[in-house]
Amino acid sequence: MNEACNVTAVKNRAEKYAELHRKRELAEMPAGAEAVARQRARGKRTARERVDALVDEGSFVEFDRFVVHRTNAFGLDEKEFLGDGVVTGRATIDGRQIFLFSQDFTVLGGSLGEAFAEKICKVMDLAMRTGSPLIGINDSGGARIQEGVVSLGGYAEIFWRNVQASGVIPQISLIAGPSAGGAVYSPAITDFIIMTEKISQMFITGPEIIKTVTGEEVTFEELGGATTHATRSGVAHLVAADEENLVELTKALFSFVPQNNREEPPQFACDDDPHRPVAALDDVVPDSPNKPYDMHAVIDGIVDYGDFLEIQPLYAQNIICGFGRVNGRAVGIVANQPSVLAGVLDTRSSIKAARFVRFCDAFNVPLVTFVDVPGFLPGTDQEYGGIILHGAKLLYAFAEATVPKITIITRKAYGGAYDVMASKHIRADVNLAWPTAEIAVMGAESAVKTIFRREIAAARDPAAKMKELIDEYTERFANPYIAAQRGYVDDVIEARQTRSAIVTALEMLQNKRVELPERKHGNIPL
Ligand code: HXC
Repeated sequence: MNEACNVTAVKNRAEKYAELHRKRELAEMPAGAEAVARQRARGKRTARERVDALVDEGSFVEFDRFVVHRTNAFGLDEKEFLGDGVVTGRATIDGRQIFLFSQDFTVLGGSLGEAFAEKICKVMDLAMRTGSPLIGINDSGGARIQEGVVSLGGYAEIFWRNVQASGVIPQISLIAGPSAGGAVYSPAITDFIIMTEKISQMFITGPEIIKTVTGEEVTFEELGGATTHATRSGVAHLVAADEENLVELTKALFSFVPQNNREEPPQFACDDDPHRPVAALDDVVPDSPNKPYDMHAVIDGIVDYGDFLEIQPLYAQNIICGFGRVNGRAVGIVANQPSVLAGVLDTRSSIKAARFVRFCDAFNVPLVTFVDVPGFLPGTDQEYGGIILHGAKLLYAFAEATVPKITIITRKAYGGAYDVMASKHIRADVNLAWPTAEIAVMGAESAVKTIFRREIAAARDPAAKMKELIDEYTERFANPYIAAQRGYVDDVIEARQTRSAIVTALEMLQNKRVELPERKHGNIPL
């Protein structure tokens, strides 16, 4: 009797285990092999392949693989997809815990319904509760049409969590397929968007609606492809050439961000001599103030091993933003680029740099700023485009940042742009200048034309008079010493000593603490 009972129990258990294994297998490919083949034919990896490629081997712990939709409308009662079209869970990258979701386009086009949204919200909540970064892999046709307003509610739940998490945990969005309609706003709220060439598009309204409403004809790719968002809109922070490169870029970016706003970015062992002189920097700045040079040479010279991860490299190239390390510690670098538009500040470059500065400040990444700026770009285009407001964003961002701030003036620091670019007055901690620095209200020629207009006009030889006055002005003002006399710059250093000086300054500022006045939040000029 007893024996028989036991046999039945063992059999039942075996069946139960078989059921689990069957369901698990089904969840691996919920829409079937054909749908996976179609995904591959689109040149895309599957949602699970993307997770596997991104995270440490064996580290992925999946949640909610048995979740299904609860909709009867439009024939969905006859379709059940385990996992409901999104793979979610916890994993590690380089041993550090993350939470992630990966949308599965093979299931109803990766469209987002109620259960799908709940799964994403669960990992977002866990990421917040445990202070871990969130990585979202997006490949979706947007709101699941069959679920109607419920899917809109689901999106809004995600948006709300994106906002709560902003500045608390790093959020990185990978775009590996379509991201359409209001769905783009989750990635837009996150800290970084990495798009993938050829397979990803982001847009609010697609080509067909655009044609109906405005008559414009545009392809998906021209409208919202990776190149468009990397060069024209600035929506994409990085562009991957393909899915493999998407993983590489994500890992590279991840190595610079901390787990959360209470932690520092990871520190790496460094065999690149921290105090190595960089002799080539002494020759970077040309003798003529109007001659451009590539600020990348300066950045590459000072960061460990010359490794620099540029953010938005193809957008507003008159300013360079990106991450590097000095002596193994992550720094955020902001630098005027004299070889593009002479390095002027304009609307686009101000917004680009302001957002980058705010990320660094929120996540304890010290800021190193290289200054060679002739001022703000003049013109009606800029004024009508709101340069007052946008330039103020950068000023605000640098001024409110409490992370260690180190500023190096390589050449021009003129006018309001001098103040904005992490000057001493807006509380940079260490301000240095190269001997080639020119810190003044404006360039010599403009200055002389403004204040000596009458004298020049009255001179027997106006050209000679102007040259004499320019030389005099240059001699008196186009140098770093007037600022140095007042302590606006702490020292004038040989360019070759810049890396060493930054390392020393960072060590000095390691325990920097700043108390801020109590307030709900500031009101950055948006
Ligand atoms: C339900 C969807 C879907 C959606 C795609 N599918 N989008 N199912 N809801 N939103 C399904 C398709 O019916 C198809 O199912 C499968 O996914 C693959 O789609 P295809 O069109 O065959 O793929 P492709 O040719 O690659 O085109 C992909 C696409 C296109 C560009 C995304 O499907 C598309 O335009 N979809 C609609 C996009 C859209 O307008 N979404 C709503 C946006 S508004 P079968 O069964 O045939 O394989 C929005 C609001 C969010 O998202 C608001 C938040 C506040």
